[in-house]
Amino acid sequence: MNSIVTIPDQLIDSYQRRFNYLRLSITEACNFRCNYCLPDGYCPSNDSPFLSLQEIDRLSGSFAKLGTEKIRITGGEPLLRKDLADIISCCKGKSGIKTVAMTSNGYKLPKLLPQLVHSGLDCLNLSADSLRPETFKLITGHNSLQKVLDSVELGLELGLRRIKLNAVLMRDSSLQELDSYLDYIRTRPISLRLIELMRTNDNHDFFQQQHVSGQAIVDRLLSSGWRQTKRAADAGPAVEFEHEDYAGRLGLIMPYSKNFCADCNRLRVSASGKLHLCLFNKADADLRPLLQNDSQEQLEHCLIEQVKGKWQGHQLEQNNSGSTKHLAMLGG
Ligand code: 5AD
Ligand code: SF4
Repeated sequence: MNSIVTIPDQLIDSYQRRFNYLRLSITEACNFRCNYCLPDGYCPSNDSPFLSLQEIDRLSGSFAKLGTEKIRITGGEPLLRKDLADIISCCKGKSGIKTVAMTSNGYKLPKLLPQLVHSGLDCLNLSADSLRPETFKLITGHNSLQKVLDSVELGLELGLRRIKLNAVLMRDSSLQELDSYLDYIRTRPISLRLIELMRTNDNHDFFQQQHVSGQAIVDRLLSSGWRQTKRAADAGPAVEFEHEDYAGRLGLIMPYSKNFCADCNRLRVSASGKLHLCLFNKADADLRPLLQNDSQEQLEHCLIEQVKGKWQGHQLEQNNSGSTKHLAMLGG
């Protein structure tokens, strides 16, 4: 007799995209003042407290049950949360979660990283929008490039599965430093990510001045011996390149390019528990009321139904940044 196989519920939208990657913001607060994100620093809005460890426990449990395999912890700056190590082990402990990653500005990281790795951190993204200490300070408000670079070395020593260095592509800074970035990844097995500057509701003028397309860099790489890496099935949105003389890889994130959203596999939850089906969209559902009790069923039902309504793609080309004031709201 055939036994009945029950297929577990999954998060699938009306374009048949399956979502197995959750980007979870655990705080909107940030100690940096990146000129493209929070040029005046973080101003608490006092709306509602950030998700508690117990709420994160319920949330990650439900996402894991619905097929999520990777959780990236973002902010704001996640290191500002004192219970970060507990949050990491809580996410890592869920059945089905294979990867816990974090995006950080690296401040305070050299001191904390061993404990975070011990708690289950697998992958780390660090921001280094310039490799020149003075420019780094001008962009972020902090003279702490060295802490980022030390964190990269420490992460490699501690055996992190993957380290990425993020640089927002800007006309006056990272674009001018391409050679230094390439030099940096010559001997280090990390991924450098050049991210096209995205227009948010708060950075219109800055965007006009600094946005450049990554296509010129793609052309330059292809004409100097770099070749496009074969896309893995679960690859993110970056177009990645490799070169036989380099230990590291270089990826470009070009959200303004065609088909950027076609393989989208990610969902986002803000630090106040709002589900965002797209980085550039209004919040789609407030999950908070459903995180207040032990019944996971309602939460899972809500996620399955919400995901069905995900748009095919963002509307950035039409200068529509949704309700995204800045990316500290959602961690990029
Ligand atoms: N455009 C592109 N990238 C951004 N980030 C933050 N704001 C923007 C923006 N407007 C990136 C940061 C960091 C990650 C958290 O998001 O560089 O690497
Ligand atoms: Fe903070 Fe990241 Fe925004 Fe910089 S980009 S201000 S580090 S949240």
